[in-house]
Amino acid sequence: MKRVFSGVQPTNFVHLGNYLGAIQQFVKLQDQADCYYCVVNLHAITIPRDPQELREKTLDLAAMYLAVGLDPKKATLFVQSQVRAHSEAGWLLQCLARIGELNRMIQYKEKSKGSDSVVAGLYTYPVLQAADILLYQADQVPVGEDQKQHIELTRELAERFNRDYGHVLTVPEALIQKEGAKIMGLDEPEKKMSKSADSHFNYITMLDEPKLIEKKLKRAVTDSENIVRYDPETKPGVSNLLVLYSRFADISICELERKYEGIGYGQLKKDVIEATIDHLTPIQQRYHEIRLSDELIRILQQGAEKANEVAEQTVRKMKDAMGI
Ligand code: ADP
Ligand code: NA
Repeated sequence: MKRVFSGVQPTNFVHLGNYLGAIQQFVKLQDQADCYYCVVNLHAITIPRDPQELREKTLDLAAMYLAVGLDPKKATLFVQSQVRAHSEAGWLLQCLARIGELNRMIQYKEKSKGSDSVVAGLYTYPVLQAADILLYQADQVPVGEDQKQHIELTRELAERFNRDYGHVLTVPEALIQKEGAKIMGLDEPEKKMSKSADSHFNYITMLDEPKLIEKKLKRAVTDSENIVRYDPETKPGVSNLLVLYSRFADISICELERKYEGIGYGQLKKDVIEATIDHLTPIQQRYHEIRLSDELIRILQQGAEKANEVAEQTVRKMKDAMGI
């Protein structure tokens, strides 16, 4: 059976980009693979966080994992910091990673904006991410398109480790979807939807109320053509709405283009709003029930125990191979 690993940061609320790009794949894979899904709180502290808030957001994300349909009987759900091997393997791999390759990481360049007062952890973050994945000997890593470069680095580090120290690590591959791997910002459809965007009209979170979803989608930037056609290059706003609608209503984009022949953006937006609200409402109801239950803590404890067993084995092998 294939091994799968992925994680999401417990920063702000999960947005539709995280959900459609990554988390929906997590749910699909749990029935066909041995899956490990992590709340990566060690990654979250590469930017200053309020401790109490971070604790809450860690549980918020775990509750969202369950609310969207992840099942602890089918997948191992856990919090990264509860498995020490992540920090340990992260260090081992830092001693393999080269400054030059870290300098080329686009996400670091974007997040640091050239400032040298960002913390060192932000710089070495992709190496910790490699450790996360390699500890579980994952074959596949479901992620959004923006993570492609980090998975490439992970593969490179696994191959280097195996070459230098003998075969210990599985070389994983990124699992990136054809449509929805890059959900665009609603107010700025040339860029990806992101929780670090300046305006909250950029994204819809999984917990936005119907009224707010409606408001954000009504304001979503389109173009002046009023012709519903999928063309991410020249019509990024309309194409993004089509992706959302297609995924939430489970209708292919081709079919949608036919459906809207001679019909303008007003109707398209109305339909996207309805499909989005219909999809998110039951998830939100489950989320609020789960978030308040003690069950959540127990699931995460059991998940951490299982994750620990696997991760400890790998880190032990890595250390043996390295002579420490
Ligand atoms: P963010 O990028 O919002 O800070 P994370 O780094 O925790 O969130 O990413 C969690 C997952 O969501 C990753 O697999 C990432 O590739 C995916 N993701 C993030 N933004 C988008 C987006 N706009 N479209 C598709 N996938 C995305
Ligand atoms: Na499974």
